[in-house]
Amino acid sequence: MRLLIMLVLLIAAQVDAQTIRWQEQFPGVWKGTFGQPEQYTLLSAADSKPKAVTLEQLQSIDFPLPKMEVHAELIDGKTYVRLPLTKNEQIYGLGLNFQTVHQRGKILNLHVDHYGGKDNGRTHAPVPFYVSSKGYGVLINSAQYLTYYVGTGVRKDAKVKPEAKDRNTDKTWSSRPYSDAVEIYIPAAGVEIYVFAGISPLDAIKRYNLYCGGGTLPPRWGLGFTQRVQKLYNADAVIKEAAEFEEHGFPLDFIGLEPGWQSRAYPCTFEWDKNRFPDPAALTKKLMDKGIRLNLWTNPYISPEASISQDIAPYTGSHTVWNGVVPDLNHPDAKRIMAKQMDSAQLEIGVSGYKIDEVDGYDYYLWPDMAKFPSGISGIQMRQTYGVLAQKLTDSLFRKQNRRTYGLVRASNAGANNMPYVIYNDYYSHQDFITALVNSGFCGVLWTPEVRGSKTGEEWLRRFQSVVFSPMAMINAWSSGTKPWSFPEVADQIKYYAQLRMQLMPYLYSEFAKYHFEGTPPFRAMVLEEGFQGHADAVVGNRDLETNPYLEAVNKEVKDQYMCGEYILVAPLFTGESSRKVLLPKGNWYDFYSGKYVGNGAEIVAHPELDRIPVYVKDGGIIPMMASRLHAPTADEKVDLTIRHYGTKAGKYNLYDDDGLSFDYEKGMYAWRSVLVKKNKHGQLTGEISKPEHGKPNTYGTVRFEFMTK
Ligand code: GAL
Repeated sequence: MRLLIMLVLLIAAQVDAQTIRWQEQFPGVWKGTFGQPEQYTLLSAADSKPKAVTLEQLQSIDFPLPKMEVHAELIDGKTYVRLPLTKNEQIYGLGLNFQTVHQRGKILNLHVDHYGGKDNGRTHAPVPFYVSSKGYGVLINSAQYLTYYVGTGVRKDAKVKPEAKDRNTDKTWSSRPYSDAVEIYIPAAGVEIYVFAGISPLDAIKRYNLYCGGGTLPPRWGLGFTQRVQKLYNADAVIKEAAEFEEHGFPLDFIGLEPGWQSRAYPCTFEWDKNRFPDPAALTKKLMDKGIRLNLWTNPYISPEASISQDIAPYTGSHTVWNGVVPDLNHPDAKRIMAKQMDSAQLEIGVSGYKIDEVDGYDYYLWPDMAKFPSGISGIQMRQTYGVLAQKLTDSLFRKQNRRTYGLVRASNAGANNMPYVIYNDYYSHQDFITALVNSGFCGVLWTPEVRGSKTGEEWLRRFQSVVFSPMAMINAWSSGTKPWSFPEVADQIKYYAQLRMQLMPYLYSEFAKYHFEGTPPFRAMVLEEGFQGHADAVVGNRDLETNPYLEAVNKEVKDQYMCGEYILVAPLFTGESSRKVLLPKGNWYDFYSGKYVGNGAEIVAHPELDRIPVYVKDGGIIPMMASRLHAPTADEKVDLTIRHYGTKAGKYNLYDDDGLSFDYEKGMYAWRSVLVKKNKHGQLTGEISKPEHGKPNTYGTVRFEFMTK
């Protein structure tokens, strides 16, 4: 009898070991546990806390996949996960890709790296989260290198099998036959799988973002303009640069110092260079008095000449980078020593943030996979999460001071959705930069298509126009020294767009608040827009993923236009182009500049002059704007608004307000003002805004409505 019980238990244990144990954590959010998941994961590294109250209130929804078809098994001590795909289902996400939006038909090896010109999984944020066109998302919570076969492998026991065809005679033969599954290889003896349901793909993304703490809410100044100066600038040159911006009447909220602020760089000392910056406290103060902040470039590798080098030595990895030691940012002592240095030499004198460089690779510029770290995590786990750990560390320093930061980083991963950092890189294809912006919204990261230099005024203006509609409006002149006005033939047009960025601040700030509180990415792909998917099908004919998923995916993706916030559609032009096709979702759309009707659910051709980037607004769209100014408003200012309305429909908008600087919004010190445009009985449009709430932040002054569509 006892033997029988033991046998039953043994079989049960084995069955259990091969099944995924699902647990619904919030409405529409499931965690599946398989085998023995590792302790150190992407989510444990990021340590973000789900926005539980918001998630609890979401509509409950059924598990979005046939549970029995979500399969996991151990093969040679490694985990293999399979999720079903159906015909015509498309897959988006899987990290910050630069050339493709559709991932079905691809094999990706997710690996933190500097982007190398191919969407093969090696990128700055290889986030193992995908979202399906059917409205659900899947996250594999593992800090290993993961291999995804996204609808490529065809199993003998596939539920929906493609037919073998004769290549000699059959024109429909395909080298990549239909596959009915996403298959994932995880080099660990177990894993956590998260499934996010939704009523639409965007809804699933929102759940994912909320689960990871909600998106970041930058300080208002973070949405202003930033110039990074040449790497060997000194304090006088920085002051002069700030003065030049003012003379030119050009907005500037923060200046970025490149490697030369440090006494040694690559590896770094984290100390000011005494010759170039004899009195950094005086510099930050002088700039701050003018409303300009300072952001500092660094990489985390510590020079033997750094004053902290002895102290930190025991808490560094087995390998060096450029002969500098690599702090184990998963080790409390390494974090403590770094924090002390940054606090005392930089934060305490008012530095506003960092640009965390070189945390992504290239391979030669990092430690090898077999590197060891004192906290016990592997070289691979450290690589997959180093950018996230660096973001966490610096963010925590600013949090302690109750002031928000907004900086740059070259690597990130799942879970860092609420970190105040924007990804950038050294690659410079304008087209691919826009595709990265499109893809950033699928994976909970922010990306800037930064402007560095240009061959012609045309290129300068085209690049500038699109960076203005991005999470960080930045010129990175660390090498080129280019100024906004460097191309006199387009200087006025550049200024128009820099000023437009400032005018849009109330809108952009509210859109970021929606990222934070609701999980809606402020910059996102057209396929996430209601009325777009169906339309795209109509325009491109019936998609036929069955016969050739790869070709279909490549041909039909829309990767050069995107949504900026709730109502704005941006369709950049690239150097040499004088016209472009724009796909408008269903519903009426209007020109941003003139308010004129442009189309409905159609492909239109835009042929703007060089001085215009095509921008469109949805019917009923409401865009709160302010007068252009040189610096973001301070917390105690009142800013007058001009609220634009487009089209003929009534409309509504949730306008966000808080002090723009601190974390007090996390304690309830924020307000949403409700903007309504209604039609009166004579068919005329009228606008109104709800009263400010007593005892809540109120930084808006008078409100004027402008009806753009006459
Ligand atoms: C690169 C970085 C550039 C610039 C440069 C300075 O790694 O991507 O934006 O900061 O370093 O050396």
